[in-house]
Amino acid sequence: MIKETISIEEINGELFNIKLIEPENNAPAAYTHYLHSIDNHYSEIFRDDAIEYVKTVLEYTQKDEIPHLVAEEALQYLLFNYQNDVPFPAPQNPEFQFIDLFAGIGGFRIAGQDNLGECVFSSEWDIHAKATYFANFGKIPFGDITKEETKRNIPFGFDVLCGGFPCQPFSNAGLRKGFEDTRGTLFFDVADILDRNIQNGTPVKVVFLENVKGLKNHDKGRTLKTIDKVLDDLGYEMKYEVLSSKNFGVPQNRERIFIVAYLKTENRNFTFPLGLDSHDKAIFDKEKLSNVKSTKVGDILEINTDSKYTISDKLYAGHIRRKKEHLEKGNGFGFSLFDENSQYTNTISARYYKDGSEILIVQKDGNPRKLTPREAANLQGYDEKFVIHKSNVQAYKQFGNSVSIPVIRTIFNEIKKQLL
Ligand SMILES: C[S@@+](CC[C@H](N)C(=O)[O-])C[C@H]1O[C@@H](n2cnc3c(N)ncnc32)[C@H](O)[C@@H]1O
Repeated sequence: MIKETISIEEINGELFNIKLIEPENNAPAAYTHYLHSIDNHYSEIFRDDAIEYVKTVLEYTQKDEIPHLVAEEALQYLLFNYQNDVPFPAPQNPEFQFIDLFAGIGGFRIAGQDNLGECVFSSEWDIHAKATYFANFGKIPFGDITKEETKRNIPFGFDVLCGGFPCQPFSNAGLRKGFEDTRGTLFFDVADILDRNIQNGTPVKVVFLENVKGLKNHDKGRTLKTIDKVLDDLGYEMKYEVLSSKNFGVPQNRERIFIVAYLKTENRNFTFPLGLDSHDKAIFDKEKLSNVKSTKVGDILEINTDSKYTISDKLYAGHIRRKKEHLEKGNGFGFSLFDENSQYTNTISARYYKDGSEILIVQKDGNPRKLTPREAANLQGYDEKFVIHKSNVQAYKQFGNSVSIPVIRTIFNEIKKQLL
């Protein structure tokens, strides 16, 4: 299976379109998943592919083909030397297991691990996101989740399925026929994984999904209704809430829809934590927010930033001209300026690398500047030890696509308390 990835790379200050043609190869993912799960029964599922991977990297002098036994021994040797010295290792004594779908750079994973969860499977098809994921967790995610060769690697018997799946319209029959009619959408694959676990007698306890706020009214509300219907047919009760990151300890107004679904047979109920109120003053569900502090933009800014982040006179003039045109047309779009005293920024998006228009920082002397990649990380709640991709374009894209970790961490904490 051949996969093409088109990416935009910054090389010597210029942007290039780079097209990578990559065979769909899950062997390195199986290998790293195997090394990470050796202490538990999940390792068995990754073992054969891990051995195949070892064969591809071994040099064996006596024969052309590397015998299975040699590869098996080499794998055990590699295991012996393996050290889990990554910035975000799995918790020592995990209290539950989860899988990380549409994993990006692992926002759900950090939040899950912070709640003492163990991630037993990850999937993400973007090679740059995979590289960042590997640098931080020591695991390469499996690829395309719609493919059988990826799904067959998902172990049975985990507790929570997590994922920020891309939002797509469903066919008209969706509401009547259930999840068969979500075929061709990525939500179908989520439902399919839940169904496989039900058929296996190991139903997943909780589904935890994140999406753009627009999912709520997408296709006149039909998309969300279809998701509810499909989950209901599979035996799950679904709750959702639109929450903003600014109420969870990061100074960013990022509104996202969060969906939590749980087995109806368990007779439980779930209520979302709502965060700090809109003025970042009163706390209206204090007991759920012990770790959440109110913040302002100054809290995420670096002290000395390189002059390369200052936007050029030409770009600034273009921003001002477009803003004027928008204002004349009566809409409020255009660039936005913030300083250290601002309560929160706009939402950082995956296109931030282009011109930074949604969040520019005022400077005393000269034009405003873009956030640095480290500041973008801070704005999504990624702590200091997180390894950031070396390409600024990729780094901005990855943080723009990511979840805000404190929101996910707080909801995960509630999931653990109320549902696990
Ligand atoms: C909105 S982002 C999720 C980001 C993630 N929650 C994080 O914290 O970084 C959606 C991700 O799904 C990935 N994706 C889309 N289709 C996929 C597929 N068929 N298989 C695997 N990953 C896919 C994209 O590459 C993208 O990184």
